[in-house]
Amino acid sequence: MEHPALTPLEQHIHRLVVAAAALILVFILGLTFLFGHHQTEKPLLPTRNSFSFFGNYQSPDRCRECHPEEYAEWAGTVHAQASFDPIFQVYLEAAGRPGECFACHATGYDTTTGQFALAGVSCEACHGPYRPGHPEATMVVAASETLCGACHPSTLQEWKTSRHGEVGIRCGDCHEVHSQKTRAAVITNELCAGCHTNSTQDPIHRNHIAVGLHCVDCHLSRPASKVESAISGHAITGHAFVADRGVCGRCHETVPGNGETSR
Ligand code: HEC
Ligand code: HEC
Ligand code: HEC
Ligand code: HEC
Ligand code: HEC
Ligand code: HEC
Ligand code: HEC
Ligand code: HEC
Repeated sequence: MEHPALTPLEQHIHRLVVAAAALILVFILGLTFLFGHHQTEKPLLPTRNSFSFFGNYQSPDRCRECHPEEYAEWAGTVHAQASFDPIFQVYLEAAGRPGECFACHATGYDTTTGQFALAGVSCEACHGPYRPGHPEATMVVAASETLCGACHPSTLQEWKTSRHGEVGIRCGDCHEVHSQKTRAAVITNELCAGCHTNSTQDPIHRNHIAVGLHCVDCHLSRPASKVESAISGHAITGHAFVADRGVCGRCHETVPGNGETSR
């Protein structure tokens, strides 16, 4: 039913608007169809052996011939699996398989073609493409914060503004670069206590360590939504290692030491 107050011109505009809306709807439906159809023609999800030939990229197998130790340390890591770990692939699929994910989840991502050279964060992701003539020609060994920070930008940011960043305690000082393990155990406090011998002297530290707490229970906080932040390449990993007074509330309903609890 027409609105009685509408003039013929207004009615005309009204019809035009309805027609335009219908056209837009048809267009969107068409796009959806095309897009859905197009998806089936996308390349398969990456597998362990995904690669394309370009540049001088070789493969971890090539490096393994002369560097079996580094290879063995690296082979079981999430870096090695970064393109095909099942959780990643679920999110990759949900996001519509955008190529940009492979800037960090693969080796030798080419922004112009959307292709990557090798699956996983492999040797050449960190050491650059194979240099013909290597070992006479040397491979790249970059400072760990520049290297790791390229794909771990938010961790780099947390670290940079921390005391560790200020005094130059680098990623590689705490992490084995190939196995990704920490250089000493975290769960026994060995890693932190290896450099921090004095921190255990004051009562807060002494008392809590005596009841079996670990440095990271108070000095490392990760958000619950870690995966969500990781998808954007900005996982919050708590690398400032600060423990403020607010941390007490994680375990104590009331902050002891204020009369509620005796020491
Ligand atoms: C996540 C980044 C990363 C990956 C992946 C990686 N490396 Fe390294 N690699 C480094 C860094 C950083 C150093 C320097 C270590 C240091 O200074 O302690 C290094 C050092 C080396 C060295 C010099 C000797 C040594 O151990 O210090 C060799 C050889 C080497 N890597 C080979 C490899 C091979 C082979 C692979 C693949 C199987 C590989 N790397 C994968 C980061 C990486
Ligand atoms: C034909 C044997 C050979 C192959 C293949 C080889 N390397 Fe090396 N590489 C060496 C030797 C020898 C050295 C020097 C001694 C050392 O540090 O182990 C070396 C040193 C390195 C270093 C330390 C920096 C430097 O250049 O001195 C890195 C990093 C490295 N190789 C990475 C790689 C990567 C990544 C691959 C695979 C793309 C690879 N290498 C393949 C023999 C090889
Ligand atoms: C080319 C990109 C890239 C570089 C360079 C890189 N990483 Fe990673 N790293 C990733 C990706 C992607 C993941 C997650 C892989 C997954 O779970 O699928 C990851 C995961 C990790 C993890 C495991 C996190 C977890 O949740 O268990 C550690 C630890 C880590 N990286 C440390 C480092 C360190 C230390 C360096 C430098 C020596 C480094 N990374 C360099 C891309 C990179
Ligand atoms: C002072 C030591 C220290 C330094 C420096 C350090 N890390 Fe860590 N990192 C740790 C500890 C401890 C953990 C937790 C390990 C665990 O829970 O087993 C960790 C965990 C991680 C993880 C996994 C995060 C998660 O939530 O599971 C990544 C990724 C990582 N570090 C990357 C880096 C990068 C990149 C740098 C340099 C910018 C760096 N780290 C510098 C000590 C350090
Ligand atoms: C390789 C040595 C090294 C390791 C390992 C290390 N630290 Fe540190 N840390 C330092 C140095 C050096 C400083 C600066 C000391 C200073 O300011 O005099 C520092 C400073 C700090 C500070 C002081 C921050 C501030 O703002 O004053 C905290 C907190 C801290 N570290 C916690 C940790 C924790 C937790 C771990 C274990 C996950 C750890 N550190 C592992 C060397 C290390
Ligand atoms: C119960 C929680 C808790 C535990 C467990 C804990 N810390 Fe702390 N830590 C704190 C708090 C809170 C501060 C800040 C103190 C302040 O500002 O008064 C702090 C401060 C520090 C500082 C900087 C001040 C200083 O004393 O130099 C370092 C370094 C440190 N802790 C290292 C460690 C290490 C290493 C461990 C494990 C051996 C550890 N902490 C375990 C809560 C904790
Ligand atoms: C800037 C680099 C970067 C980009 C771009 C990036 N990621 Fe990541 N992603 C990481 C790093 C680093 C981690 C490991 C974080 C950690 O554990 O601390 C990670 C972890 C993940 C994880 C958790 C893996 C697991 O097994 O728990 C998922 C899922 C993920 N990424 C999906 C994606 C998707 C999908 C895209 C593209 C839309 C993407 N990422 C783009 C760097 C990146
Ligand atoms: C990761 C958990 C955790 C955090 C965080 C934590 N505590 Fe505790 N705290 C404990 C545990 C466990 C005990 C020993 C059991 C108990 O007495 O409740 C304890 C005991 C204490 C005691 C001795 C209580 C008594 O009755 O003897 C004091 C005081 C105390 N905490 C203060 C603090 C303060 C201040 C903070 C913040 C800087 C803090 N705690 C952070 C777990 C924690």
